[in-house]
Amino acid sequence: MRNCFYKQSQHYSCFFSSLNYLINRAKIYSRLHSENLSIMKDGVYYSEYLQLDKILNAQELESDKAGREHAHDEMLFIVIHQSYELWFKQILYEVSSVMDILAQPNISDNSPDLFVAHHRLKRVATILTILVDKINILETMTPLDFLDFRNMLRPASGFQSIQFKLLEAHLGLRMNQRFGKEYYTSQLKPEDKKIIEDVEKKKPLIDLVNEWLERMPFFDDSNFWEGWKSDGPEHPFWQKYREAYTSSLQEVEKFNLKRFEELFFSKEKNKDWNLSSDARRAALFIVLYRDYPLLQMPFQIINTLLEIDNTISTWRFRHVNMVHRMIGMRTGTGGSTGKDYLQGALNSHHIFKEFAELTTFMIERNKLPKLSPALCVRLGFGK
Ligand code: HEM
Repeated sequence: MRNCFYKQSQHYSCFFSSLNYLINRAKIYSRLHSENLSIMKDGVYYSEYLQLDKILNAQELESDKAGREHAHDEMLFIVIHQSYELWFKQILYEVSSVMDILAQPNISDNSPDLFVAHHRLKRVATILTILVDKINILETMTPLDFLDFRNMLRPASGFQSIQFKLLEAHLGLRMNQRFGKEYYTSQLKPEDKKIIEDVEKKKPLIDLVNEWLERMPFFDDSNFWEGWKSDGPEHPFWQKYREAYTSSLQEVEKFNLKRFEELFFSKEKNKDWNLSSDARRAALFIVLYRDYPLLQMPFQIINTLLEIDNTISTWRFRHVNMVHRMIGMRTGTGGSTGKDYLQGALNSHHIFKEFAELTTFMIERNKLPKLSPALCVRLGFGK
């Protein structure tokens, strides 16, 4: 019996403490709520800050217009494109800021600049991987669902995406390198065409990277290279490197030597190249000796540019496959041949491919020419 009473009183005390707890929570909630109400009057309000009234009211279905039949999947089609455009905006914002950093005549190794540039490029690469994955969502729409509204969209097409074209132009895809250049801007309104033409006249990111690499300081400092003279024979590092590279090649690969000479030691920059020979030598040196602290960040920048190029290619690949599945071999709403045009762009629109090609001219770590002690110190974080 005693035992039972004890259990009961424990039960009551538990009930009262829970009640107290709830009353206290209610008081806190009501205080916070009234404080929030005053914040609402004076401070920033979520939906106003994000201007959600504009964004959430910007989905007007063509299939809902008078006399047409509502096509359920058109909403998904609009939302996907709008969200792509928002991310393109963010990417352009990041790329432009990196271009501003690299446009400086000198970037000090001791300043935050290179770290900031790399951090932002990495963000661009991360956004792009998400943009590839978003195709999965659109692929939940079947070709038959698409046909419910496709013909109402003509001649609109992603081909008219100014932000996508701006991104290509900012990164460094030039008009003469484009597949289907004859009609590349033909589907644009004159004011949009002008925007693209103006950007194409400016230096793109790849040119700024080229100039930054050309400025790499270590090769022409006689403290680092015994016997080197500016008016002397070829630089001792590259003499040794050529020997090591030559002996690394199989008999059937020897033809690469001619290409090595042409790419790395030409006096003039070939008009089809994005990188000059000076820049290429600097990039190869960075990639090979990237374990030295001072070369880590330049290496990460080169690597991230390659990642960006690869991810854009992956997006093109996923997009062309989706297009094939969605419209077969029919022409695009933007008037191109459709799948064939997109396949051509996928094959040829690589902006940073010259960094990928450096691999052809690399040798094993243990065969690399040894650097002088003075240069090793210079490439470290101090003595
Ligand atoms: C049902 C889905 C889609 C179909 C069938 C489709 C179809 C096409 C076709 C046929 C083209 C070639 C130009 C033309 O003649 O229209 C094209 C280009 C393009 N589309 Fe799409 N597309 C789809 C979804 C998307 C999405 C979600 C985006 C995201 C922004 C997008 C962005 C682009 C871009 C940027 C181009 C130009 C590519 C270049 O010039 O290299 N498309 N699309």
